[in-house]
Amino acid sequence: MNGSPDLSIRIGKLRLKNPVMPASGTFGYGMEYEQFFDLNKLGAIIVKTITLRPRLGSYPHRSTEVPSGFLGSIGLQNVGIERFIQEKLPYFENIETPLIVSIGGESVEEYVKLAERLNHHPRVDALELNISCPNVKKGGIHFGVDPEMTKELVNRVRNATDKTMIVKLSPMVADIRIFAEISQKGGADAVSLINGLVGLAIDIKTRRSKLGRNITGGLAGPAIKPFALYLVWRVNKVIDIPVIGSGGISSAEDAIEFIIGGASAIQIGTYNFINPWITLKAIGGIEAFLIQQRVNSLSSLIGKLEN
Ligand SMILES: Cc1cc2nc3c(=O)[nH]c(=O)nc-3n(C[C@H](O)[C@H](O)[C@H](O)COP(=O)(O)O)c2cc1C
Repeated sequence: MNGSPDLSIRIGKLRLKNPVMPASGTFGYGMEYEQFFDLNKLGAIIVKTITLRPRLGSYPHRSTEVPSGFLGSIGLQNVGIERFIQEKLPYFENIETPLIVSIGGESVEEYVKLAERLNHHPRVDALELNISCPNVKKGGIHFGVDPEMTKELVNRVRNATDKTMIVKLSPMVADIRIFAEISQKGGADAVSLINGLVGLAIDIKTRRSKLGRNITGGLAGPAIKPFALYLVWRVNKVIDIPVIGSGGISSAEDAIEFIIGGASAIQIGTYNFINPWITLKAIGGIEAFLIQQRVNSLSSLIGKLEN
């Protein structure tokens, strides 16, 4: 093997120097992590999901720890698209890492407006559609659990943007492959999975949910890793666009498992709260593994699960 292994991968129009990025909602607006390390080292940066109007998020209690996991109802707290563009986006002018903006809406029109608003902004490299938002017009059902709604959303946003488009899939469906295929057909450049599962934790003395009046929350962290890996493997078999894997990744070894299982890139969420350097550690660990295994390029490992 000559020199360092090639960790780079392509997602749509983007070239990522390595496959590691934070997961939306666990890395703030990016700048919060500059105190820990140089953000130029990441494969990509994804910010918290941005909505058309600012959102204050859920009432307390918003989070609770569960065995090997995190149960949370944050409620998409964010500053809204206009403040994001004015106050958060300029920070990225001095950073070279590709920037992926996660967007969420309560109607197809809101997603389209967000995509249009960001389309001509040169510093935004890609959009990740968080389709786990409730569609208010259709009675609050999540876009990502209804194939027709997913199809309409993906097609309409595709027509509204030239940016690389990633669709983030929900695991709360009977067959996630259908949603991956719809995304590919609708012009997505990649899919990312999984968003949190839905969970409930009860305080048996008060008989109340540990998340108070939110009752349920998103379950994330190592508890969901085998399930997330299974879905990545399943989805990668049926589509040709890259799969970005997430769900409980807490080490380079976990990341490599996802890559062998079919992920072209990976996202780390909850573990950033335990170790803010975890993304860096994963990049270093992946490189060391490739050197040790005498593998020249990461892309040759993608989906290479032996039977
Ligand atoms: C505190 C918290 C906030 C999150 N906020 C968002 C969000 O705004 N948008 C989104 O698409 N996913 C959000 N997620 C889901 C993560 O991006 C990720 O898909 C999920 O947590 C699984 O990865 P993990 O097990 O590594 O945390 C959030 C997760 C957590 C724990």
